[in-house]
Amino acid sequence: MDISLVKSRLEQYRSMTERRLDELTMPLPDCLYKSVYTALRYSLLDAGKRIRPALAMEFCRLCGGEAADALDFACAVEMIHTYSLIHDDLPCMDNDDLRRGKPSCHKAFDEATALLAGDALQALAAQTIAQCTALPAERRIMASGELFRLCGIDGMVGGQVIDLESEDKEIGINTLIKMVECKTCALIEAACVMGCAAAGASDTQIAAARRYANEVGLAFQIIDDILDVVGDEKTLGKPIASDADNNKSNYVTLLGLEQAKGVAAIHTDIAKESAAAAFGDEAAFLISFAEYLLERIY
Ligand code: IPE
Ligand code: IPE
Ligand code: MG
Ligand code: MG
Ligand code: MG
Repeated sequence: MDISLVKSRLEQYRSMTERRLDELTMPLPDCLYKSVYTALRYSLLDAGKRIRPALAMEFCRLCGGEAADALDFACAVEMIHTYSLIHDDLPCMDNDDLRRGKPSCHKAFDEATALLAGDALQALAAQTIAQCTALPAERRIMASGELFRLCGIDGMVGGQVIDLESEDKEIGINTLIKMVECKTCALIEAACVMGCAAAGASDTQIAAARRYANEVGLAFQIIDDILDVVGDEKTLGKPIASDADNNKSNYVTLLGLEQAKGVAAIHTDIAKESAAAAFGDEAAFLISFAEYLLERIY
């Protein structure tokens, strides 16, 4: 793994993303509802690995654009991701009090504010894509179609439904795979495909992005499930044993730690192979990034 390539490029994409997210979430002067701005900026800014924005910008670069061309699309997917985390932590969902190293949104503020901060982020993501006039309208339409299909009922939301309905019961491997493909892979796929859209990529490049995203996404959620058992709360910035407390069904409960790690490694290998097949030498970052995500401790 070329760790210096991963770290330097991730840092470049992270700093571009954070600067732009700050600009996109500035309250209007004399705003009478600043509390929700404060809450959404609290959850959105200054923390988070920003892996989805990085993938959007990297796929744009790989498909012939400049990374910066995909910056607003990258910010839109990070807004949707952050909204999903704010809602995921609510007492009616996973009931977690710590997120990104600080009290969860509903703890720092209150439940209604957290709910509305999530709602506002979702709307702002749509607005950000529509108003990104530096890109042709058809690329913006494609990006928003992908993002909102993949974050909705047949994507992230659907996966969260399976996740909640699978508490306190045993599910089979096929339901588990479907759950993860929806709740986690879908938004990662949105990020990769939106990057392709920003560059006006070919159908072959888009198909490769979808394959990579699905495999990396499965590995990513498996590692998340493993870290919920063996991780360190301070390093992770979120509670451990959340899944056990909620009696969740996940890769660790179904396969055990060892086998789950093995399955994550297989998905990572497939992701690397598909990136190399589609992009050749240019896939160096995607390949090392997949390995980096497999070995992550936060
Ligand atoms: C957490 O996502 C939710 C999952 C899909 C596992 P991340 O691990 O990317 O969270 P942040 O953005 O770094 O906080
Ligand atoms: C995350 O799954 C899925 C989302 C869509 C937010 P988890 O519930 O395992 O994510 P964490 O562990 O709370 O970040
Ligand atoms: Mg959850
Ligand atoms: Mg959770
Ligand atoms: Mg988790």
